Amino acid sequence: ENYDIGGHDHFMHKEIFEQPEAVDRVLRGRIDDRFATVHLGGLNLDAREARAVRRVKILGCGSAYYSGQIGAQLIEELARIPADAEPASEFRYRNPVVDPDTLYIAVSQSGETYDTLAAVQELKRKGAKVLGVVNVVGSAVAREADGGIYLHAGPEVCVVSTKCFTNTAVAFALLALHLGRVRDLSVADGRRILDGLRKLPAQIEEILQQEERVAELAAAYAPARSMMFVGRVRGYPVAREAAQKLKEVSYVHAEAYPASELKHGPLALIEPDVPTVAVVPDDELLEKNRATLEEIKARSGRILAIGHQEQRTADHTLTVPRNEPELDPILLGIPLQLLAYHAAVHLGRDVDKPRNLAKSVTVE
Ligand code: G6P
Repeated sequence: ENYDIGGHDHFMHKEIFEQPEAVDRVLRGRIDDRFATVHLGGLNLDAREARAVRRVKILGCGSAYYSGQIGAQLIEELARIPADAEPASEFRYRNPVVDPDTLYIAVSQSGETYDTLAAVQELKRKGAKVLGVVNVVGSAVAREADGGIYLHAGPEVCVVSTKCFTNTAVAFALLALHLGRVRDLSVADGRRILDGLRKLPAQIEEILQQEERVAELAAAYAPARSMMFVGRVRGYPVAREAAQKLKEVSYVHAEAYPASELKHGPLALIEPDVPTVAVVPDDELLEKNRATLEEIKARSGRILAIGHQEQRTADHTLTVPRNEPELDPILLGIPLQLLAYHAAVHLGRDVDKPRNLAKSVTVE
């Protein structure tokens, strides 16, 4: 198929800038203000079933896995159901215990990733309930799943995922809100999350206006020998996805760590040539994160912070608008997509088709 690049230099750039519209589409028609919840028509999970879920296990590969980690945190926070994410590729090979009270969710932009599909098929064979969070309508994962949520992000052409990553995180916020509201999430909290979700498209637009500054920073950081990405709890999957994005498109080595784990090993790597990107939102962990920035600075590491306010210990800060804390990961990831994009452009990489990678890996 031939897709229109619409005046952009790369599809990755086009798709990053399509995000306000893409997020609008994943929300459209799904918000129910009367009951402060959402309607997810394709979910195929009635209220009684939703209340009976004891655990949630999210499966995906690459960026789909990292967005699943954001999803697991949202489900734990809003619905108070224990949830975690695991690479589908690992899950299918370790003879997993398939539990009837667990809701399994497979995440895949293409819906054709073989490892994810194989995990779904194994789960179905063992009688599990499996939902899909998928972009491509009618794809293999969508067909095999019992129900799910379509991302409605439109075609994603660049090999690395941007708008589908963001839309997956938003889709999980919708699912978490829905599960929360059939369980113990209050009307007031439901409204608070709905108001936050509605603000996202305009806030993403606002972040994208900082492109010029991000491009300058990308040029300054791209020559690094290696980069560390750190974040705590909500910031951690953001750091992981940002490191993945940088590796994929710019080939700059990057490593993501929970900020709390830095002192248990990777701090040894910090030196002027190995800068850190720190995800530092204004949440209850801000002081902890500031202490981490001090530790890095003490080892003369350069720091680029991403958060809601200027960080004095950091050499540079990129800010994103404030929203509800649970939704922070969605916005914090956006400047880091631009950072990876501009690092790759600066280094002259083949942005839309990075070496050794395929858009969907449909073989074993
Ligand atoms: C490939 C791509 C990754 C992508 C992963 C999952 O490995 O290189 O960027 O995240 O597949 O793709 P999916 O279509 O299942 O989301």
